[in-house]
Amino acid sequence: MSVCLCLTLCCIAILQMARLTAGLATGAPLSACKKMKPRHPWPPQSDKSIYDVVFEAKHYIPGKTVNVTIIGGRYRGFMLQARKTNTRITFGRWKDPPKFSKLLKCFNKEGTAVTHTHASNAVVNGTYEWIVPETLCIPSITFEATVAQFLSVYWRALESPPLPRGE
Ligand SMILES: *[C@@H]1O[C@H](CO)[C@@H](O)[C@H](O)[C@H]1NC(C)=O
Ligand SMILES: *[C@@H]1O[C@H](CO)[C@@H](O)[C@H](O)[C@H]1NC(C)=O
Repeated sequence: MSVCLCLTLCCIAILQMARLTAGLATGAPLSACKKMKPRHPWPPQSDKSIYDVVFEAKHYIPGKTVNVTIIGGRYRGFMLQARKTNTRITFGRWKDPPKFSKLLKCFNKEGTAVTHTHASNAVVNGTYEWIVPETLCIPSITFEATVAQFLSVYWRALESPPLPRGE
């Protein structure tokens, strides 16, 4: 192989790597909205997740908010959405999230997901505030998150327990 070709291939490989890691460095891309599948070149973990998606609320109440926390230790990347239980339909929007996270405009709707901004800053027990639509009347909401401990170690589409509608 010529030196030139070798350099070119090497360059392409580095660019490819940079493109793949970009997803983790600055937050999930919009292409991850639907299946919550990051672009990392590694498969998700198939064992039991070290993270859980939890909340203290007993019900969701239209027009109010629900605080959702990712527990289980430090994580570097995540994407979080609220979905009608057992579907991929996303509802509501997220409040301005805490440091090292930002809103995403999944499915062309503002604030339908939250993701990290800096994979270099690991977060513990991040809490994100979900705003319930005034008119929501589905039986229950499930919060879903993909959470990355490292670029190569992540759990995809972890589900919270269902949160039923209150009065
Ligand atoms: C959610 O957390 C925020 C920030 O800690 C707090 O101000 C708010 O009252 C909480 N909301 C609920 C519904 O618990
Ligand atoms: C995170 O949450 C877990 C479970 O609630 C708790 O045991 C742990 O002490 C918390 N860690 C920090 C740093 O707040």
